[in-house]
Amino acid sequence: MIVLVGFMGAGKTTVGHLIAERLGLPFTDSDEAIEQRAGRSIPQIFAEDGEPAFRALEHQVIAELLDGPALVLALGGGAAEHPGTRDRLARAQVVYLQVGYEQAMQRVGGDAGRPLLARPDLAATYQRRLPRYAEIATLTVSTDGRHPESISEDILARLGTEPGVGGRAPYLPSPP
Ligand code: S3P
Repeated sequence: MIVLVGFMGAGKTTVGHLIAERLGLPFTDSDEAIEQRAGRSIPQIFAEDGEPAFRALEHQVIAELLDGPALVLALGGGAAEHPGTRDRLARAQVVYLQVGYEQAMQRVGGDAGRPLLARPDLAATYQRRLPRYAEIATLTVSTDGRHPESISEDILARLGTEPGVGGRAPYLPSPP
């Protein structure tokens, strides 16, 4: 199980797809899984049910995915704030894609599919989350000014060589 975490615009979905392809693993985006489960878009869930309901569903969907077969899983930027989700990630290889705030805003722009972008306290949310990402990461990769291909190559090279944080074993692809 390889899990990608980081703020909106870090490139979790793009990089996750590239890594999954190279490792021959399926790729899943937690936001897509939530939308499928709810039968509604993320902005609709936020608008109709509120953020706490979204966070509860997000935790449930992620926990189920983590219990399932091996895959590359990109998490929504807020998932790491849920203590239960952080606990569940203790057995996974967690790749933290770091992105500076300015770069993140350039990448996501005014995306209507991301309700948090409308929040006045977005910069504070970003700051609050940084230690959360760092806390659960077994591998940290900087993404500012870098192309997704280069980031994914970096991750693939380091996944096989660097031991995970807290004694967790590195991800070793199974033989073909
Ligand atoms: C969110 C990030 C989004 C999505 C939702 C909330 C957040 O995912 O889960 O809009 O709280 O940062 P991405 O990080 O994939 O944009």
